[in-house]
Amino acid sequence: MQRKQVVAGVDVLPNEKTFDASGKSPALMQHRANLSSCPCPARRALRRDCGPKIPDDRSYSGAGLAGAFRPGRRPAICKLITSRQTYKPTEMMNPKTEQRPFAASLSIARASALLAWSIAVRSTAPQDELRVRCLPGPGIPDPTQQLKPDEIVLWLAAVPPFRDVIADEPGALSVEQATNVLNADETNRQARFLHIEDQLSYLAAHAGARLLLGSMVGRPADTLRFEPSTHGKPVLVAGPPNIDFSLSHARGAVAVAAANMPVGVDIEPLREITDMEAISEIVLAKDEQAIVRNTPAALRSRLFLRYWTLKEAILKAAALGFTIPPNTVIVDAGPSPAVLSVPTALGSARQWRLIAPAV
Ligand SMILES: CC(C)(COP(=O)(O)OP(=O)(O)OC[C@H]1O[C@@H](n2cnc3c(N)ncnc32)[C@H](O)[C@@H]1OP(=O)(O)O)[C@@H](O)C(=O)NCCC(=O)NCCS
Repeated sequence: MQRKQVVAGVDVLPNEKTFDASGKSPALMQHRANLSSCPCPARRALRRDCGPKIPDDRSYSGAGLAGAFRPGRRPAICKLITSRQTYKPTEMMNPKTEQRPFAASLSIARASALLAWSIAVRSTAPQDELRVRCLPGPGIPDPTQQLKPDEIVLWLAAVPPFRDVIADEPGALSVEQATNVLNADETNRQARFLHIEDQLSYLAAHAGARLLLGSMVGRPADTLRFEPSTHGKPVLVAGPPNIDFSLSHARGAVAVAAANMPVGVDIEPLREITDMEAISEIVLAKDEQAIVRNTPAALRSRLFLRYWTLKEAILKAAALGFTIPPNTVIVDAGPSPAVLSVPTALGSARQWRLIAPAV
């Protein structure tokens, strides 16, 4: 009988080629070691709870993985993929399937039924003057409708398992269209994800960001270049100085937001959070923990994920990510979300505006 392992919250089946005599894959064990030595508890909690946005080059050497996904052969590493995933990664690039849509644009209402999603902007504009324009596809379709000063453009999309057929409706993104705009570095990073669903989400988010920004700056999406800022937020090279963007990819969905001000977007699939107590201590301040604890059990996970995405959106807008502990960023996650208090690295709470679905 095959022995099951749990890696970052995901069940994987060892296979004799990839695992040594101890039953442990050196690469995965290395990945786990990297995770457990990561100084950032929020990141460890995120990986433990949300699973397998791994391996990526922040946490895993990835040696051999990209090469394992060669067309025409079933890579041994595929056996590591959970039993839910019964198709081959090579199907993605099969000439018969590459025209197929794999990411379907979501309206705000449809996205809000599937996801916790939040946007944060650093802006002094009154909250009621900010507008979110939810795009019908990854790009601004009409060049005369360019971004207004207090506007945030948002593309939300579902990325279902690849075998699910998506209607070829306007706004759907095909594998070919997406892979054609990624650069070699992005393609390599995509191939390093262990799970095909995560590869697809990565592909949709990065292609979506390129297509959206390309339509905003009037340049072909595949010619855009990005540089990481100090803590890893990608910045468009030679773009208009005010434009900022942010992307988020989770298994099953992606979001891309852009604005003429610092912006962060974060999504989390709605789901039951099992180890709420432990994660809450890392993510939430004491008062926030009490609010979540006193919420009816049926609503608790949804509220926690709302807090989580609000805080992560702020940290992404500030380009600081989890270098700031999320439990030091204090927010009101009610119907009109607001920032209550932030560490000095984030400036003043008054500079921040939050947008999240109605509750
Ligand atoms: C940014 C961060 C909060 C996102 O976490 P996540 O929920 O796993 O991922 P999301 O899909 O929502 O967002 C990922 C995207 O955010 C962007 N991003 C990365 N670093 C960022 C930062 N410092 N600020 C804003 N955005 C950032 C990238 O576009 C990234 O996409 P990519 O990894 O495919 O290139 C987290 O990865 C982070 O803090 N990273 C930087 C610092 C870090 O690695 N600290 C580790 C300390 S142990």
